[in-house]
Amino acid sequence: MSLRHKDLLSLAQLSREEIELVLDTAEACKQIFDRPVKKFPTLRGKVVVNLFYEASTRTRTSFELAGKWMSADVVNFTASTSSVMKGESLSDTAKTLEALGADIIVIRHRSPGAAHLVARAVRSRVINAGDGAHEHPTQALLDLFTIREKKGRLDGLTVTIVGDILHSRVARSQIIGLSRMGARVRVAGPPTLIPAGLEQRGVEVYHRLEPAIDGADVINVLRIQRERQAKGLFPSIREYVRLYGLTRERLAAAKEDVLVMHPGPANLGVEIAQDVVEDPRSAVREQVTNGVAVRMALLYLMSGGDARELQSAG
Ligand code: CP
Repeated sequence: MSLRHKDLLSLAQLSREEIELVLDTAEACKQIFDRPVKKFPTLRGKVVVNLFYEASTRTRTSFELAGKWMSADVVNFTASTSSVMKGESLSDTAKTLEALGADIIVIRHRSPGAAHLVARAVRSRVINAGDGAHEHPTQALLDLFTIREKKGRLDGLTVTIVGDILHSRVARSQIIGLSRMGARVRVAGPPTLIPAGLEQRGVEVYHRLEPAIDGADVINVLRIQRERQAKGLFPSIREYVRLYGLTRERLAAAKEDVLVMHPGPANLGVEIAQDVVEDPRSAVREQVTNGVAVRMALLYLMSGGDARELQSAG
């Protein structure tokens, strides 16, 4: 079984079975992490272009490693040193990369819908690596993978997402993915940072952190985007920390085996304390590692690869 979609633009495109396929394939990909030579020959001859118009550490590096460990040729495109600076448009840039042989274009852009625009412009496959405040489907998939790896399942778990839900592309994709996999989703944050209409989608909304984390199996903390404070969407960083910052003290009231996650990059001491990130219940570092396995799986499956063949490919 492989993924039949030309592009991955939103997690809403994937059925429950397709999400399971990605997670199972990522599990197979992760087996090579402990090998002295991390290489599958499966994407030999394929060209993967990382087209990043916005800063990234985890997503860009993990897509690069994922492509290289699958033996693809990986090209990293940085807008600030390209002909974008001479005024070349996004769709012309994508068409240029297609003409250079790109089989898969991985795009991050500040504008919602940028990945859709590129997908319409080229025959190359397109993966959304974050488009404005719209979606970040590969982050949500690696989060689902990490939760399943740690908890053994997704169905029936209670997952609390804390922070700026309104502007978070991660939260948007996570809510789609978690709900589809049968998890119970709670969100917590200031009323100004919670979008309307979530309850109608089955999400429980909290404006206080304590009841939101009470009984939760997973606490997923989001980065507070400081630029939102300038727009008056919450009073001050100090106030935010007091009300929503995840500290050791607050964690003490959560379930003993709660899993703590953060997609990164984190404002340490703001939305999450440093000692919580380093706590044994935190999967923050494993999320980063798992990002490579999930992106390997996506590159493989979107290139027409069959999950069963991967087992014997190494
Ligand atoms: N989580 C995430 O997308 O991180 P980067 O911005 O470092 O890629």
